[in-house]
Amino acid sequence: MRVGIARERRTGERRVAATPETVRQLVGLGLEVLVEHGAGEASGHSDAAYEQAGAAIVDPLGLGDLDVLLHVRPLAPETPARLRRGAVAIGLASPSTELPTVRALRDAGVTSFALELVPRISRAQSMDALTSQALVAGYRCVLEAAMRLPRFFPLYMTAAGTIPPAKVLVLGAGVAGLQAIGTAKRLGARVSANDVRAASADEVQSMGGTFIHLDLDAADAGGGYAKELGADRAARQRQLLAPHVADADVLITTAAIPGRPAPMLVTADMVRAMRPGSVVVDLAAESGGNVEGSVAGSDVAVPTADGGGTVTIVGMKDAASTMPTDASRLYAKNVANLLALMTHDGSVEPDFGDVVVMDACLTHDGEVRHPATVEALAAADALAPDEQEGTR
Ligand SMILES: NC(=O)c1ccc[n+]([C@@H]2O[C@H](COP(=O)([O-])OP(=O)(O)OC[C@H]3O[C@@H](n4cnc5c(N)ncnc54)[C@H](O)[C@@H]3O)[C@@H](O)[C@H]2O)c1
Repeated sequence: MRVGIARERRTGERRVAATPETVRQLVGLGLEVLVEHGAGEASGHSDAAYEQAGAAIVDPLGLGDLDVLLHVRPLAPETPARLRRGAVAIGLASPSTELPTVRALRDAGVTSFALELVPRISRAQSMDALTSQALVAGYRCVLEAAMRLPRFFPLYMTAAGTIPPAKVLVLGAGVAGLQAIGTAKRLGARVSANDVRAASADEVQSMGGTFIHLDLDAADAGGGYAKELGADRAARQRQLLAPHVADADVLITTAAIPGRPAPMLVTADMVRAMRPGSVVVDLAAESGGNVEGSVAGSDVAVPTADGGGTVTIVGMKDAASTMPTDASRLYAKNVANLLALMTHDGSVEPDFGDVVVMDACLTHDGEVRHPATVEALAAADALAPDEQEGTR
């Protein structure tokens, strides 16, 4: 069967869905692999390296000839109609926001798998792209902060005097947040963190951070995810966090609720109360933002309340894509492992009795299979025509 890897076309996207290493894995499974000319260029993989691994380089990639399409970003809404009915697509799909593409996948009869929907169970860890890409993003956030901070991260005791370590505060201690804690610790900062899940205190401590206990009940939604706080509790959380934010040299925010806009944890007043020169990195800037005033892809300078200078808010965008070589190395393995799970004797045959395959499936046989996306589509379809912009 023919597996195609397209060049990612979205501006700012530098990752690729297969590396020469995973091409070897797929060829070993008995699959024929076609790589679009230049697909790996931005992540450091030449056409020649793919050829050596056993792929054929094609230009352009004929989508209609493929049995399987591997991709990074959600497909454009016009792409599914170019695939043959019954073809398989595997990649990130952002089903809660990319409803036009979901409809197009359904209507084109494509069997699509969304990596966001891979269940977070031990057996599926090697296919968990949310984790692999959050690891890259969490690391990168700290580097972005360190490059902008007009101070050292580590403690220095020199003949000319002692420089205290920078204080780094991490809000949201999931995969990205824990990685940020570990990276900031390795750079020598004093790191503290907060999260609303009950298990997060131990997780923060295991990475060397100090957990900030707030007088708030835990908010677990099950499956390791957080629940959205009601308005009163969210306001209380901001109030309790305010002194910790004011005391930080670097604030890194990574809080998220699956399928919902990111929670607003830090108001503009809280930012203004920080010391001049402090840096805020909002990893959630693309999904609504944890910090009031953050702009995805931009730095924003906010004057401090004391009039002494500014705080820089960095709105992260395409965070994993800023380190495309290692991000692709991990992502491509996630994709290849999911495809391998469905491949038997060189033939791709998803077994929907397998919970990993079943949960990861977004569309199949002309239907949307993911219940939350079915609900989101129904809600969008119920909107008045003038409110439907972006959902069609
Ligand atoms: N295979 C596995 O077993 C596996 C793999 C990866 C992650 N996990 C678990 O899944 C969970 C979610 O990880 P994630 O990084 O994808 O989460 P995520 O991206 O959905 O959210 C990031 C973090 O933000 C936190 N958060 C949400 N609202 C908040 C608020 N108001 N204030 C502070 N923090 C808030 C969440 O609790 C979470 O820790 C974690 O428990 C992680 O350990 C399990």
